[in-house]
Amino acid sequence: MSDPRPSVLFVCVHNAGRSQMAAGFLRALAGDKVEVRSAGSAPADQVNPVAVAAMAEVGIDIADQHPTVLTAGMSRVSDVVVTMGCGDVCPTFPGQRHEDWQLSDPAGQGIETVRAIRDQIRDRVGTLLDDLGVGTQDASADDVRAVVREHYAKAATRGSQQPSGCCGPAPSSCCGPSASSATKQVFGASLYGSDLGLVPVGASNVSLGCGNPVAVAELNPGQRVLDLGSGGGIDVLLSARRVGPEGFVYGVDMTDEMLDLARKNATDAGVTNVEFRKGTIEDLPLDDACVDVVISNCVVNLSPDKAAVLAEVFRVLRPGGRVGISDVVAEDHLSPAQRAERGEYTGCIAGALSRIEYLDLLAAAGFTDASVTFTHEVADAMHGAIVKATKPQITSSR
Ligand SMILES: C[S@@+](CC[C@H](N)C(=O)[O-])C[C@H]1O[C@@H](n2cnc3c(N)ncnc32)[C@H](O)[C@@H]1O
Repeated sequence: MSDPRPSVLFVCVHNAGRSQMAAGFLRALAGDKVEVRSAGSAPADQVNPVAVAAMAEVGIDIADQHPTVLTAGMSRVSDVVVTMGCGDVCPTFPGQRHEDWQLSDPAGQGIETVRAIRDQIRDRVGTLLDDLGVGTQDASADDVRAVVREHYAKAATRGSQQPSGCCGPAPSSCCGPSASSATKQVFGASLYGSDLGLVPVGASNVSLGCGNPVAVAELNPGQRVLDLGSGGGIDVLLSARRVGPEGFVYGVDMTDEMLDLARKNATDAGVTNVEFRKGTIEDLPLDDACVDVVISNCVVNLSPDKAAVLAEVFRVLRPGGRVGISDVVAEDHLSPAQRAERGEYTGCIAGALSRIEYLDLLAAAGFTDASVTFTHEVADAMHGAIVKATKPQITSSR
């Protein structure tokens, strides 16, 4: 019996960059629901290592792929043939779906350029799967979270050993386009001003945010607060002071090393009205309507499913509850590829929403009175921003 699954062949000249990345995304997004091949009209010796690195950043391993020579037989048995820059050399057959994707060649390009090509390919593969009626699987979101978790586990370990702050010697030690002294001014502890003296040095050393959400969240004594992606705990500890002994602050983070550090910092600070819970911000480990205010510092941009995050924030807020989030936000004219050119996903740049996208997602989640206010530029046309919104007192049944 013939295989009932649709089969897709990606073809480019070298089969060493574009087509291998496309095949990697298709496998990651569709699993075994699609049969996938890739080949080249003039295959290279090995897969482009910069393409391998760019894919590793989003949790997809193509290092073990081998460039393959294109044959007419391969093309004939494929339902869909996607060509990328091999022109008439790549054969197609009647009855087949043929798409020609105009993408730059990653050969000889640096990581920033290849990242942008990678993100264009991811978008096109997603559209192709939609057209084929193939649902994508959640594994890709898990893959993204795994890469982010590994990155921040290292940042936690580094920060607990030395006062590296945001701008350690290694590139992209946390948020930011690169590890430069300029980065230090727009990310991390320097944004806290005199508040910094109120937390243990172990918390300020691992301050990886892009604002001071506690300064703008207007916290009052007795309130219950949730910090999304609490990291080393700086915003939880500052919030705990504001809400006082009658209030309570939860921190949620998915990275064990960060949770260990945050708990130690709370102990060192002698703060008892806090709890750090392990979990993802897309599936919060909290009951419905249990907090008054949700804060966060440079974390929503790292989520592979921002709509799920905002829906969860809406769920855990009590009616009338408020959101006060610091995050990186892009100007509306920047495409996802242009955002990716400005910095890494794990560095809080490539995954940033635009202002309109943020407002649309907040509205879709049910929030009202939403605003996104740029505070400081962190990369060309990308900003640290304060995001505010309110859960209405009375919500329509959704
Ligand atoms: C850029 S750091 C910010 C940490 C802290 N808010 C601060 O200002 O220092 C991102 C933190 O969010 C956590 N994180 C990222 N994505 C997450 C997700 N999807 N679910 C839970 N935690 C996440 C990471 O483990 C890391 O501790």
